[in-house]
Amino acid sequence: MNPYTPDEAAQKITALTEELNQHAHRYYVLDAPIISDAEYDRLLRQLEALEKDFPDLRLPNSPTQRVGGPALEHFEKVNHRIPMLSLANAMNEQELLDFDQRIKRHLSLPTDASIQYIAEPKIDGIAISLLYEKGLFSVGATRGDGVTGEDITANLRTIKSLPLRLQSPPSDLFSTSNTPPVPAILEVRGEAYMPRDGFEAFNEEQHKLGLKPFANPRNAAAGSLKQLDPNLTAQRPLAVFVYAPGYIEDHTLQSQWDFLEAIQAWGFPRNPLSRRCHGVQEVLQCYHDLMLQRPRLNYDIDGMVVKVDDYNLQKQLGFISKSPRWAVAFKFPPQQEITKILDIQLQVGRTGKLTPVAHLEPIQVAGVVVSRATLHNQDEIDKKDIRVGDYVVIQRAGDVIPEVVTVVTERRDPLALPYTIPNRCPCGQSETERTPGEAAHYCTGISCPSRLKSAFEHFVSRKAMNVDGLGPKLIEQAVDAGLLNKLPDLYRLSEAQWRSLERTGERSILNLLQSLEKSKDTTLARFLFALGIRHVGETTAHTLADHFGTLHALYQASLDDLQKIPDIGPVVAYSVYHFFHQDEIRQIVQDFLDLGVELAPPAQIVADLPGKDFFDGKTFVLTGTLTQMSRDDAQEQIQARGGKISGSVSKKTDFVIAGASAGSKLQKAQSLGVTVIDEDAFLLKLQG
Ligand code: IVH
Repeated sequence: MNPYTPDEAAQKITALTEELNQHAHRYYVLDAPIISDAEYDRLLRQLEALEKDFPDLRLPNSPTQRVGGPALEHFEKVNHRIPMLSLANAMNEQELLDFDQRIKRHLSLPTDASIQYIAEPKIDGIAISLLYEKGLFSVGATRGDGVTGEDITANLRTIKSLPLRLQSPPSDLFSTSNTPPVPAILEVRGEAYMPRDGFEAFNEEQHKLGLKPFANPRNAAAGSLKQLDPNLTAQRPLAVFVYAPGYIEDHTLQSQWDFLEAIQAWGFPRNPLSRRCHGVQEVLQCYHDLMLQRPRLNYDIDGMVVKVDDYNLQKQLGFISKSPRWAVAFKFPPQQEITKILDIQLQVGRTGKLTPVAHLEPIQVAGVVVSRATLHNQDEIDKKDIRVGDYVVIQRAGDVIPEVVTVVTERRDPLALPYTIPNRCPCGQSETERTPGEAAHYCTGISCPSRLKSAFEHFVSRKAMNVDGLGPKLIEQAVDAGLLNKLPDLYRLSEAQWRSLERTGERSILNLLQSLEKSKDTTLARFLFALGIRHVGETTAHTLADHFGTLHALYQASLDDLQKIPDIGPVVAYSVYHFFHQDEIRQIVQDFLDLGVELAPPAQIVADLPGKDFFDGKTFVLTGTLTQMSRDDAQEQIQARGGKISGSVSKKTDFVIAGASAGSKLQKAQSLGVTVIDEDAFLLKLQG
C-alpha cells in the first residue's frame, strides 16, 4: 500500500504525469532526451503504482493510458467538421510552374510576381484528424471518404509522439513569444506512419512468428491503426507528423508558417524538413534537396506538398472540386517503370557463378537510365515466369541494382518461350552446372575466360589486393590476348607485354607496375579474399586470417577444425577445405609467394599504424554520414588498428563515431552514457 494520503497522492500523480510527459515529448518529438530509458521506466512504474491505489485520481493525459484500453466491437463513425480533401498532383517541373502561374492569374498578379510558399515533405502514411478540447486529446479519426471517417481514438492514444495534452506558451506580460494560446477547440490534421527502422524490426518479428510480413511501412501503419484491440496497436512502432489545420475555434493564425510554429510550441511533432520558399524557383531547389535526402530519411515520403503560405491568399484562391487551389502535391518521379526485355545474358562471376541479367530497352527510372536488371537465378526466373520479349515492371529503390518486379503478362507475345539457363557458359568452352542445394548455376571451367576476367577484376579490387590502374577494359584485353591465364600471371607480365596492349600509355604502365609491386606487400586476410574462394567474402576472410594467422596453419586445418570456428558454417568450411586441397590451387598460391607476395599476419599490421593505442581492443559503432571517407574505409582503418566494429549501441560499446545527421544510435549512446566523438575527432585519432 502506498504511504500517501489522497491529497498527497493527487499532487504526486500530477507531478509524475507532468514530468513523464515532458520526457516523452523530449524523446519522441524533440529527439533530445535528458534521462535514460531505465530512469523513465522507473518513474512510469511509480505512477502506475499510485494510479492503481488511487484509480480516481488518474489524469486523462496520463502516459499509462498509452498502453491501450479495452478492445472495441467496431469503429464508430466520425463526421469531419471540415471535409478532409485531397490534393492535385504536379508530376514534373513544368506542372509545378503551371501551378504557380495559375495562382498568380487567379490573384490577378503579374506573371513574374513572387509568391511565398511552404514546401513540406509529403509523408507516405495514413491521413488522420486529431481533435483537442481545452488542450486535451479527445477524438482521433481516419480520413475515410473525406466526409466521414472512423473513430480510432483509442489506437491513436498509444502513439508516443502524439501529445495527450497541449501546452500553452507562458502568457506573462513580457513574454517575447508570439505563439497564441491553445484554442479551446483545436482540430489538426497530419499523418500517422511507421518509421522505417521500426518497420524492418516489426516485419522481422512477424516473420519469426510465422506471420505474413507487410509489403511496406504504409500498409503496416494502416493495418496497425485498424486493430480493434488498442493493445495490439500499442505494440506497433507508430509515429505522427502534424501539418494542417482542421476546424479551429477563434483562430488568429495568419499563415501556414505561423501554424507550423504554433503547433510546435503547443507540443505537436512537426516535420523538420518543411521550408518557407520565396517564389517558385526556391520551391524547385527545395524539391531537389528533398529528393537527395529521401534515401536517408527514417520514413517514406512520395513527394513534396507545396502550399501558398498566406491564409488570406488561400481563402481568395479557394477550391476546385475536391482539392484546394492553393496547394499541390509535387510527386517524385516513380521508382517503377515498365519496359521490354530485349535479351537475357549470363554474367560470369569470379567464382564461376552465373547470374542471368535482363538487357532492357533503356528507360529512365527515378532519374537514372536503366538498361539492365539482375534476374538473380533460375528459381527467380521460374517464380516470376520471365521470358525474353516480355514487358516487365522494373524498380530501383535507392541505389540498389534495378530488378524485375513482375511481368505484364497481358502484353506477352504468345510465342515467347520460358527461359532456362543454357548448358554452356558464355565463354563457349565449358559446361554449366547447378550443385544440388544451391540456387546458382556455376561454370565448371577453371580457365573459362569470362570467369577469368571477373577473377582478375576481383583480385585487383580495392578491398582485395588494391591495385590501381587496372580496369576491366585492360583486363579484358590482356585475357583475350592470352597474356593472363592464371592469377599469378599478373605479376609476371613485363613492361613490354603490358605495352603491347592497345591504348596503354607509357606513364600509365609505369604506374601500374609500381602499384602491382606495392600490392605484394599485403595481409593474409586481403589475400584470402582476393583468391575468390566460393562463399568467402571480406568478413570470412578476416575470420580465417584472425583464426589461423598464417597460410601454413590454414593448410593444416581439417574440415572439422574449420567447422569449429565461430561464424563459419558447414558450407563455407567445405568450400575452403576443398579449395586448398586442389593441387592446382596450391601451385597458384606457391607461385604468388615465389613472385614476392608477402602476407603479414593479423597482429603485425596493428603494430605500426598511428593511433593504434586508442583503437586497439575497443568496440566502435559508426552512425550518420562521414564526409571525409566512406564508412567501409573507416571500418577498415579501425580494424587495422585492432578495434572492433559493432552494428548496434550497447553498454559494451566504447565509442560511437557520429557523422552528419546521426539518428537513433546517437540518441541511444547519449542515453547509455557512451562516449560520442565526431568525424573530426575520429580523423585526429587515426593520425595518432
Ligand atoms: S496537406 C487540403 N500536407 O497527402 C489538403 N498533406 O492527397 C490537406 N500528405 O491526404 C493535405 N503529407 O494524407 C498535406 N505535408 C502534407 C502532407 C499531406 C502527406 C497526404 C495527406 C493527404 C494527401 C494529399
